[in-house]
Amino acid sequence: MKTFILSSLALAVASLLPGGVSAHPAHHKPGHGNNVDKEAFIKVNDDGTGFTRYGQPYMIRGANYWQGINLGADDCNGGDRERMEREVKQMAAMGINNVRVMAASEGPDDQRFRMRPSLMPKPGVYREPIFEGLDYLLDAIDRNNMTAVMTMNNFWHWSGGFSQYVAWIIGNQTIPYPEGDFGWDEFTQYSARFYNDTEVAPKAQQMFKDHIKTVITRKNTVNGKVYGEDPTIMSWQLANEPQEGPAEWFVDIGSYMKELAPNHLVSAGLESKEDHYDFLRAHDNDVIDYATCHLWVENRGVYDPSDVNTFQPSIDYGLSFLANTSTWASELGKPLIMEEFGMARDAFLKPYDLAFKLNPDTPTSHKDEFYGTLFDKIVDYAKEGKFTGSNFWAYAGEGRSTDNPNQYGMVWLGDPPHENRGWYSVYDKDTTVQVIKDYNAKLKALEESQ
Ligand SMILES: *[C@@H]1O[C@H](CO)[C@@H](O)[C@H](O)[C@H]1NC(C)=O
Ligand SMILES: *[C@@H]1O[C@H](CO)[C@@H](O)[C@H](O)[C@H]1NC(C)=O
Ligand SMILES: *[C@@H]1O[C@H](CO)[C@@H](O)[C@H](O)[C@H]1NC(C)=O
Ligand SMILES: *[C@@H]1O[C@H](CO)[C@@H](O)[C@H](O)[C@H]1NC(C)=O
Repeated sequence: MKTFILSSLALAVASLLPGGVSAHPAHHKPGHGNNVDKEAFIKVNDDGTGFTRYGQPYMIRGANYWQGINLGADDCNGGDRERMEREVKQMAAMGINNVRVMAASEGPDDQRFRMRPSLMPKPGVYREPIFEGLDYLLDAIDRNNMTAVMTMNNFWHWSGGFSQYVAWIIGNQTIPYPEGDFGWDEFTQYSARFYNDTEVAPKAQQMFKDHIKTVITRKNTVNGKVYGEDPTIMSWQLANEPQEGPAEWFVDIGSYMKELAPNHLVSAGLESKEDHYDFLRAHDNDVIDYATCHLWVENRGVYDPSDVNTFQPSIDYGLSFLANTSTWASELGKPLIMEEFGMARDAFLKPYDLAFKLNPDTPTSHKDEFYGTLFDKIVDYAKEGKFTGSNFWAYAGEGRSTDNPNQYGMVWLGDPPHENRGWYSVYDKDTTVQVIKDYNAKLKALEESQ
């Protein structure tokens, strides 16, 4: 079932890029109009150590806000537009200038663990009210002088993602979700068929490209801007955490995005948790403009929030991870963003009490120190041009894990629907907010001193 050569993909790459891979594929502007302010687009600086906007250094003082697409929808469609507006303002007040959001979600909506309603309930079929949620979100981001990373697919199932594309192609909706009899390995192998199974991949990639084209050529119903020409968008991200994807896949999909949106950056969305080889497979090409890394100490078995003795090793692990990834990115000559990381609330105060761990009233002293230590290190590396910032996971704003689900069974937090509500959410009243503000102020001062 699993074969590793994507001959049709390779052919597609070859035909797309005559004469080899080009950093600047043929310009093809979607929509209309040529009066785009090129200076407003985020660019990689000349030596590859960071970004610029309007010709000035631009550091990533970021948050994850994947749920914004659904929160931006009207209330009949499970959104809360006023709340989204307030939360974007709250983030701006924290000094945040960049949010990483979902620009995709796949149905059918009877599947558990998913964002609902989905943007694309069936291949090529879009739910306009959810697209409008994204329109409103992008407009709010723009009005607050922030930029967005647009995540276009997902290795994991919480938005549908690769596993749903596989299910559509093979015509069997029974997905081996990682629960009960099925582990993460089985799910990972299933999901990876999206780009690794020769009987699935060609069709899946065409379907994915159709989605990419639909989003990039969309005209925002709130402000009339074509997405592919909107400098509010910092980058098109291939997917959230693609696991061990073929090197050709990053080039093929990234090139397609650049062809449709030549002024935008493209990113892979890699966790960079494996090794140097895995890092290079995604990032060592001419289309992925910058590198990403995600740091998950509990999920990787380093941190046990019920056991205080695992805290210092988690800090050490985090610092080692920053050291490794920043070295790899510098060697490659590309900017680096740690675009996901999080830590649970102080579960050690009542070990092995899950409700306490997830309760919004439980303090966050470990998280605050973990964030603070990593933030300081990122600022140090940023001074040397070895890091450009981060997006913490994830801003839940006014939501609480104890809220009642909406009519679609959703509680919009920083925790996606396949994870325990309250695990990693950062709330507007958390002490963590001050830690984030302090860090953002340091990065801003550094940005202005350059
Ligand atoms: C918006 O951000 C840019 C940096 O990207 C900055 O130069 C500008 O002053 C900001 N504008 C406002 C109104 O805050
Ligand atoms: C669908 O997939 C499941 C799980 O792999 C399998 O048990 C079932 O037989 C499949 N159904 C069909 C109609 O092939
Ligand atoms: C996908 O295929 C590549 C070879 O192209 C292989 O290295 C990788 O491990 C596979 N990924 C998964 C998740 O199985
Ligand atoms: C960083 O790299 C070193 C040397 O290869 C390795 O021993 C260490 O485990 C890596 N750190 C992390 C967090 O992966």
